[in-house]
Amino acid sequence: MGKLPVSDLDTPCLLVDLDRMERNLRFMQEKANLAGVKLRPHAKTHRTPAIARIQIEMGATGITVAKLGEAEVMASEGIDDIFIANEIVGPIKLERLRALARRVRRLAVGVDHPFHIQTLSRVMAGESRALDVLIDVETGDPRTGVHPGSPTLDLARQVEEAPGLRLRGIYTHDGQSYDAATLDEVRQINRQSQTLMLETAELLRSSGIPVEEVSVGSTPSLLVDGILPGITEIRPGTYVFLDGDQAQVLGTYAFCAQTVLATVISRPTPERVVLDAGTKALTYYVQETGITRSAGHGRLKDHPEIVLNRMSDEHASFDIPAGSGLDFSIGQKMEIIPNHACPTTNLYDFIHGIRQGHLENTWPVLARGKSQ
Ligand SMILES: Cc1ncc(COP(=O)(O)O)c(C=O)c1O
Repeated sequence: MGKLPVSDLDTPCLLVDLDRMERNLRFMQEKANLAGVKLRPHAKTHRTPAIARIQIEMGATGITVAKLGEAEVMASEGIDDIFIANEIVGPIKLERLRALARRVRRLAVGVDHPFHIQTLSRVMAGESRALDVLIDVETGDPRTGVHPGSPTLDLARQVEEAPGLRLRGIYTHDGQSYDAATLDEVRQINRQSQTLMLETAELLRSSGIPVEEVSVGSTPSLLVDGILPGITEIRPGTYVFLDGDQAQVLGTYAFCAQTVLATVISRPTPERVVLDAGTKALTYYVQETGITRSAGHGRLKDHPEIVLNRMSDEHASFDIPAGSGLDFSIGQKMEIIPNHACPTTNLYDFIHGIRQGHLENTWPVLARGKSQ
């Protein structure tokens, strides 16, 4: 029996173009290999163990996650090297973390405050194996993270002295690359972030503290710039699918691997085309500023100049550009490139893998909704 054509799938549903995804994965793996660093992809973008396994088969050392729940799912599916690049807080989660540490070959978590070190140490002190810790360093994205330099050194000393913990290294996420105005600014952000990390690693080492891992990364930076000597690990996430926002960094939609298949359900006026995919199928995500600034709420894969300009829970619509000669009829299906891949994935139970217009496989998004 022949493979199902995409147009036979019911909508809205989530698709990944397998040729594009594999090309994106190869690009980043080759970049890591050439620089001699480890690739530890952030699995928040796909939340799908089957894709994590492909990344590892291609050469990734393990995965990054943001949530304990994601880590638990990935561990149950056999992923045995996991870094939770986030702060774990509260007795319920700490207990789950201890249980997870017992069954994962290599597990690490982030800390950016003495509070995390004390609470982690309290639950891990009696364990037979110390838990690896990386210090979360803020290199320009005002989210979590301790300042580089001596504040990081102070925390590193505390980890060194904490029973049940082992300092693996330091990490940062230069999320400010998304807000850069130009490609040059993305490169500057990347270099500045990596330089701060290298200087901080040197400070720790010269103070007698070993630093095995200096871990960095955001997709915009790693798409357009390099990796400085001394960095040991990169953690891009969105690169697997890319999306409408990342396409603005690249100047092309040709690498966007994730789409939502939607159906035209109404043509109320000569120009308005209404689809069956609204915020519950595409999210309401809009990046307000910078090089990754979104236009509208997504765009048509086959006509990326056309953006969805209205959206509600169950509907999105666009206007046919005057003079374009285009027309769309009720019942017609089309692929939409979402603005931001990660939250879009989280709306679906399954990802349909498509090759040359036909269904090749269906993967369950097993860590979907695992945000605790
Ligand atoms: C700590 C951390 N590392 C890595 C990443 C991956 O970033 P990107 O999706 O830009 O590759 C993120 C994304 O939010 C992150 O928060």
